[in-house]
Amino acid sequence: MTAKKPANKSGIAKAWGGVFTEATDKRMELFSESISYDYRLYKEDIAGSIAHARMLSDVGLVTAKEFGQIQKNLKEIEKEIEAGNFEYTTEKEDIHMHIEAELIRRLGDVGRKLHTARSRNDQISTDTRLWVRGAIDRLCVLLRDLQKAFVGRCDRDLDVIIPGYTHTQRAQPVLAPHYWLSYCEKFERDLQRLLDCRKRVNVLSLGAAACAGTSLPIDRAKTAEYLGFEKVGRNSLDISGDRDFVIEFAFDLAQIAIHLSGWAEEWIWWSTCEFNFIKLPQAFCTGSSIMPQKVNPDTLELIRGKTARVVGNLQSLLVLMKGLPQAYNRDMQEDKEPIFDSFDTVSASLELAAPLAARAELNREAIASRIDAGYLDATSLMEYLIRAGVPQRSAHGIVGHLVRAAMTRGIRLSEIPLDEMRRYAPQIDADVYDYLDADGAVRAMKSYGSTAPAEVKKQIRRWKKQLGE
Ligand code: ARG
Repeated sequence: MTAKKPANKSGIAKAWGGVFTEATDKRMELFSESISYDYRLYKEDIAGSIAHARMLSDVGLVTAKEFGQIQKNLKEIEKEIEAGNFEYTTEKEDIHMHIEAELIRRLGDVGRKLHTARSRNDQISTDTRLWVRGAIDRLCVLLRDLQKAFVGRCDRDLDVIIPGYTHTQRAQPVLAPHYWLSYCEKFERDLQRLLDCRKRVNVLSLGAAACAGTSLPIDRAKTAEYLGFEKVGRNSLDISGDRDFVIEFAFDLAQIAIHLSGWAEEWIWWSTCEFNFIKLPQAFCTGSSIMPQKVNPDTLELIRGKTARVVGNLQSLLVLMKGLPQAYNRDMQEDKEPIFDSFDTVSASLELAAPLAARAELNREAIASRIDAGYLDATSLMEYLIRAGVPQRSAHGIVGHLVRAAMTRGIRLSEIPLDEMRRYAPQIDADVYDYLDADGAVRAMKSYGSTAPAEVKKQIRRWKKQLGE
């Protein structure tokens, strides 16, 4: 007696055949399909299949001729997909089944050999790893572009002093390039974090088969070599269900989004009438439909706003994986949309951030006209006293009194006459004025990593060298 193949209304047989006597419920089919988003993995799926088939031919599970046919047809299918001539249907559930079904349609029994010693669990894990690896490489380029945008304006802005804030209160003066490079540092950590994640992504899972491995004589080291994976997963149970790398990648994206969001927040404030530090390029702003004068910082607002979904995606993935038993569970299908979305969102944000960072104009006069408000040089005066032998706590108190005296008269510290200063601290000499006001305070800086002009210049040189600029 031959088994009756279950077929749905469209007559498409499922890959599982045999044991089923009932066709899949249409509602279940719609509920469980992933082709509507995992079509994005077609390139990775085909690359994985070609590498797998090549290995199968190495070990004699398919002939060299069969491998040649499989490879040729998979490449043709890839071209068809790219040309938009490939038909997707929810009946074929996911990208793996679409491509395999087409191969079988073209090659018959030879096509039916491709799935030897392989499961879809293998395929989805391999495809996802390949995709994340490519996404990491793209993000590294985008992060470098953004760093170049910041470094590219350092020389031009070298003479600009801006207030450094803590608690959003004016704190100490810093060179504008010191601020630009502070973001380069954050994005460098993001990049290094991605490269570190890449090591754990770049592991071959293919060959774990369903979860226990296979009794067929496959050579996983070969498959790894063909796909450029640095390592081979050592334990089939573990590697088939491992999605740590997905969560890690989602975190790395969330961290980039958070850095971008903080920057966007600052520049939104900077572009206000109240701050008036910066003029944003109009190409990245929009107007208001009711207020004719408005030029709104929408790009920055959306970079900040879209951080919410990127953080949400990380949360979704953590909750998705919580409490899952070992090896593959269908739940894991839900991991694709969050990382696709996080990647799309963060890469689009980075693509906009770079030209925006490069092109925004500093309102030099407006910044300079108010740079000496807020006693940004108070710490500089305190350190002057420390150098003159006054203990830090006492120096802090003395300068506090001087600031208060200046405040009540609405003057700067540098406007207090020398003899009056000496009444507070006899150690003060006429050279004190060299250390006051924003530029005096900046010039007085010395420490490594500080905003001292010499240190900042060194860092600019170092960054240019690192970025090959
Ligand atoms: N579409 C599935 C996913 O994204 C991969 C297929 C594995 N499915 C299965 N029933 N074993 O996770």
